[in-house]
Amino acid sequence: MNPRPPSVSRRRFLQSASATGAGLLLLKSTTLFGQNTPSKKLNIALIGVWGRGLAHYDALAKENVVALCDVNELRFPEALLRFPGAKTYVDWRKCLEQKDLDAVVCCTPDHSHAHIAMWAMNRGLHVYMEKPIAMTVEEIRLVRATYLKHRKKLATQAGTQRHAFPNFARVRELIRDGAIGELRAVYAWGNRQLRRPGYLPEAGAPPSTFHYDLWLGPSPVHPYNPDYFSGKAGMNCLQWNMYWDFGTGQVGDMGNHTMDLAWNAIDAGHPTAIEATGEAYNPEVTPVELTAHFDHPANDWRPAIRVSWYQGGHLPTSPKRYLDLNGIGHGVMFKGAKGLLVSDFNTRMLIPVGDTDDLTYYRPRAKADVTPPLGNFQEEWINACKGSLQTSCNFDYNGLLTEQMALGLVAYRAGKRLEYDGKAGQVTNAPEANAYLSREYRAGWPLNG
Ligand SMILES: NC(=O)c1ccc[n+]([C@@H]2O[C@H](COP(=O)([O-])OP(=O)(O)OC[C@H]3O[C@@H](n4cnc5c(N)ncnc54)[C@H](O)[C@@H]3O)[C@@H](O)[C@H]2O)c1
Repeated sequence: MNPRPPSVSRRRFLQSASATGAGLLLLKSTTLFGQNTPSKKLNIALIGVWGRGLAHYDALAKENVVALCDVNELRFPEALLRFPGAKTYVDWRKCLEQKDLDAVVCCTPDHSHAHIAMWAMNRGLHVYMEKPIAMTVEEIRLVRATYLKHRKKLATQAGTQRHAFPNFARVRELIRDGAIGELRAVYAWGNRQLRRPGYLPEAGAPPSTFHYDLWLGPSPVHPYNPDYFSGKAGMNCLQWNMYWDFGTGQVGDMGNHTMDLAWNAIDAGHPTAIEATGEAYNPEVTPVELTAHFDHPANDWRPAIRVSWYQGGHLPTSPKRYLDLNGIGHGVMFKGAKGLLVSDFNTRMLIPVGDTDDLTYYRPRAKADVTPPLGNFQEEWINACKGSLQTSCNFDYNGLLTEQMALGLVAYRAGKRLEYDGKAGQVTNAPEANAYLSREYRAGWPLNG
């Protein structure tokens, strides 16, 4: 832990100094920066500047991007064209020492997410973290708990930007307003299939401009192979995210986006039991085919429900032969006492099911009660950093979702139904499964740094 977060103490000093008037001289004689400047621009570090990082350039260009960090030095010239004057770093641990930072946007591979989130929050920095915010149950719980501890001063957002699609709010409204009657079960699925035999074999040395050891970061050493880095911008994650030491496969990839569509509508906490089945376990590669079921207790508006995730060709059974769920690449189906709601990211279908399900019980919302548009997802976080601290996918909301999905992989590895104590973060009926809640880190890469 950093006992005295530098940027927070500097911000507080500026605030109190200007409040007393004693700071006027200081304010005249020093460069103003960050949230305290009259323009209220944030000083942001972008970690991982290419690939998914590029998708954030437009939103970030309205702020001060003062630091750029990437393990591939060849990515800096293009980023500097857009953010001239930013300092460059190859090691995010050094980058986070820069004193004028207010906030961090992180677009690195998944195996560094929890570390960067923790180190940044421990230094008083707001965080936008690409999904998944962390890989293991232990990491996700620590990141969420740390955010909850600091939620009165830090804004966080998980990179599930589809959440801003109007369909997310419409689906929630239909479920909450009873369009399918009492909610009984929820099914989410994704059909992406990336089959990998095992870690790639050694293939030469990395170029001098590519800091492979820093790319590995906290994860165990695997030989360098350029195929891990051969994907197109924004798609290169598919080159490494199937390997256990670098990602969680589709559970952390499209699973995080797709389960968000369900999660937004069900007001769930921790599951009490999890069971999962899939292809034979491969110690190097995460499963392509997986079905995971999560039992959630009742809450104040719905009974206990089972939430299920299917991937890699596994699908829920279609309730009607004319409904081809396989035609929806990534989708969600809600089953209620009186009907079904089937949705992809942008559209939804309501299917009343029984002879008496005439929809007379359902009253569409008045226009004035419809959830207003969320607006630009990145800007929601930027505005939150500047004061509101309110985001739709903070590390509390998304942490619970991501923990549930990670538990699916724990149950898959354990090969049996697990009972879970969400308060303690422990499997209670199969102690051996608790070994799958965490992972080992290389020396020099503490999680809570
Ligand atoms: N929200 C979305 O829709 C969406 C879409 C694509 C990717 N993603 C997420 O974004 C992240 C990055 O995916 P990608 O396809 O851009 O990956 P990538 O392999 O292209 O990496 C992105 C950038 O990070 C750099 N990098 C790698 N390790 C680093 C480190 N330790 N420190 C600093 N820089 C580092 C790379 O050199 C590259 O420039 C993943 O977590 C992925 O899940 C999200």
